[in-house]
Amino acid sequence: MANAIGIDIGGTKIAGGVVDDDGRILAAGRTPTQASDPDAIIEDVVAMVRSLDDGSISSVGVAAPGFFDATRSTVYYSPNIAWRNEPLQARLAARLPDKVVTIENDANAAGWAEFRFGAGREERSMVMVTIGTGVGGAIVLDDRLLTGGFGSGAELGHMRLIPDGLPCGCGARGCVEQYCSGNALLRLANEAADAGGDGAALARARAAAGGLLNGHHVSALLESGDPGALRCLNELADLLGQALASMSAILDPNIFVIGGGVAQAGDLLLDPVREAFLTHLPARGFHPEPSFSIAQLVNDAGVIGAGDLARSALVLG
Ligand code: BGC
Ligand code: NA
Ligand code: ZN
Repeated sequence: MANAIGIDIGGTKIAGGVVDDDGRILAAGRTPTQASDPDAIIEDVVAMVRSLDDGSISSVGVAAPGFFDATRSTVYYSPNIAWRNEPLQARLAARLPDKVVTIENDANAAGWAEFRFGAGREERSMVMVTIGTGVGGAIVLDDRLLTGGFGSGAELGHMRLIPDGLPCGCGARGCVEQYCSGNALLRLANEAADAGGDGAALARARAAAGGLLNGHHVSALLESGDPGALRCLNELADLLGQALASMSAILDPNIFVIGGGVAQAGDLLLDPVREAFLTHLPARGFHPEPSFSIAQLVNDAGVIGAGDLARSALVLG
């Protein structure tokens, strides 16, 4: 088959690439996301497609965060981007009349890439969670990407984790996203910094950064073994492990893959997730243990999956 262009619209950046049949990225681009401006996003995606296209490419796949319709034309709602019933496919197709444009949920695209070319390539059933600005999910069962009856399946970040917990950008409360995302880790880190005690190093890093902690500060402290930062990550991991144990009861995958920025913590994240999972797994001690893996395609999964899906028709409606 031919090369395709994959574009991944994230909460903070839009990434794009020319993707070949083996999931390799041959040329890449990136630009910040103007998340509050749907018109600007269209312009930025079109500009990126034009800059990546050498004239030979006919398929463009665009991965985007949000609840999708079944026909992959509309994003019903996006918690972290200002899309409400956004006719994303038609708007992009109108601006790219020489291309076949398909759209897919960002985590589904990333999960598809991991399943085809990355951490899940030896398995037939996989659940992936992406931990970034939000928490995304992808479910592959018997080699098929599950999209649900209305199109919005696999929104694992919006599974309820804490009854009547924190309000979520989706309008509900207590969602996984509010406790297990990169933003949730920053909330925990700020709380630790406020509380003093083992949060002292976080408080110092925050003061040095003019009062605003970001993901880089927290990951630097994690790498140096700071007890406050590790406690925050463990808290996130414990809840994520519990959520995955519930997902196991429903979907029973052979492998759980964890991706997104926070997954760069590697085993610091994976070990406590697995421990909580095994503690809370229904039929614990008897049910076989699935494997756990950090995503292998890291920041490129969305681009690779979007490109690959654009030229295949493997998505289950
Ligand atoms: C959205 C998902 C998306 C995830 C990661 C969530 O808030 O509901 O559609 O996959 O964020 O971007
Ligand atoms: Na999804
Ligand atoms: Zn939610």
